[in-house]
Amino acid sequence: MRNYIETPAAELEANRLCAKRINEQISPLGLKYHIEAYGCQMNGHDSERIAGMLVECGFTKCDDKASADFIIFNTCCVRDHAEQRVFGNVGALKALKDANPRLIIAVCGCMMQQEKVSRHLYKRFPYVDIIFGTNELHRLPTMIEAALMGERTLMVRNIDGEVTEGIPILRNGTFSTNVNIMFGCNNFCSYCIVPYVRGRERSRSFERIFSEVEDVAKCGFSEITLLGQNVNSYCSPESGMKFPALLDKISGIDGIERIRFMTSHPKDLSDELIEVMATNDKVCKHIHLPVQSGSTRILEQMNRRYSREHYLELVGKLRQRVQDIEITTDIIVGFPGETEEDFNQTLSLVREVGFSAAFTFMYSPRPGTKAASMPNQIDPAEKKRRLLALNAVEAEMLKTNNQKFIGKVGKVLVEGFDVRDGQYFMNGRLSNFKSVYFPFDADEAAVRGMVGKTVDVNIVDTTNNSLIGELNG
Ligand code: 5AD
Ligand code: SF4
Repeated sequence: MRNYIETPAAELEANRLCAKRINEQISPLGLKYHIEAYGCQMNGHDSERIAGMLVECGFTKCDDKASADFIIFNTCCVRDHAEQRVFGNVGALKALKDANPRLIIAVCGCMMQQEKVSRHLYKRFPYVDIIFGTNELHRLPTMIEAALMGERTLMVRNIDGEVTEGIPILRNGTFSTNVNIMFGCNNFCSYCIVPYVRGRERSRSFERIFSEVEDVAKCGFSEITLLGQNVNSYCSPESGMKFPALLDKISGIDGIERIRFMTSHPKDLSDELIEVMATNDKVCKHIHLPVQSGSTRILEQMNRRYSREHYLELVGKLRQRVQDIEITTDIIVGFPGETEEDFNQTLSLVREVGFSAAFTFMYSPRPGTKAASMPNQIDPAEKKRRLLALNAVEAEMLKTNNQKFIGKVGKVLVEGFDVRDGQYFMNGRLSNFKSVYFPFDADEAAVRGMVGKTVDVNIVDTTNNSLIGELNG
């Protein structure tokens, strides 16, 4: 059943010992680290692992690059002209390196998994000490130890199907956190580079996931987001357990109040999952279901393996079965060969569904993917026009969609606060992911004490993206 191997325990142990040695060497010096992360939640969660290892090595966090002794860029290559940006940012570190010769500079993440890019970076910037790909995260202590001895490392391996367990994680936040349930992707959507840089799909052991969630619950986290490129195809390597059953099991863990998950591929969204969302109170009434295009013809070219009609059918089922569910999505405009008619189908789908948020992107060709060499690439100015037109339709839909909440009462898990004109405003989310602001009259200690609590809020107004409420009672 298991289609991967776990990183050998001896390798992890060697890195743990290495971190200990580094700690003894550097902790008297009070060295600081700074992480700059790009990209998705998955990459963000990798940054928490990087931070975990750096703390084990004896570094402490700092927010500003100029005072850091270790700077790491955790890169992403899914969209945009990310390369130019990263190369530019790395170039700008030269002055800091000249001013602080003990500064260690590292670059990692999806973009570095593209060997052509990482080799180029290695040659072009001799003052970058460490470059590594997505399969080497756990080896960071070894690479730091080498850097402390003046050696450079470039490590990008094209292994497939390894899962690394047991890396220390320094979690951001105090009540909401992420837990990986699977890595990689087998779908090969024709525009997407993820399968090439994150490898083939592999589900994590159920026991490992369960005990990680138990641990975070004991630390006071009450909301978890289960992460994977395609969570609906989760399949436990021990027992074959599927995603809906995993959700049910995890919801039984003491202290876990809300469970979110992302991302769901429409082709794998099962009736069983819809049933769990409908019946399990801890599973949030929100699904992020990327549609990518409203045109079946383009969906075929994208290799998405569902049609417009199938997607709309899923939306119908979700709405019918899961009370108050909200749906968010990702959409690409300007895919090669996308005609005005195809684009209009996307606009009409957005109108028909009424997403509560849509993340919209201009298609950007990724080297090595099928779509990058397709004919009829769309002119950038036309892509931009379509993006703006799509965003305008989505903004209009959002306004209408938000109105339906006015007069309702919802449970808000409070995430934080800010002060406007001397007034505290708490912010948080409903189970369905809508974000809510409400004023709170209290002293700062009470305001801080409110963070992480779940409270009833009457929705009284809306802004473009959020709801405004009043504390109930
Ligand atoms: N161009 C534009 N958008 C892309 N995405 C993935 N690859 C590309 C690309 N080459 C978008 C998809 C995906 C989201 C994470 O990023 O919409 O769902
Ligand atoms: Fe990329 Fe498609 Fe896999 Fe999502 S499902 S990561 S878009 S290949």
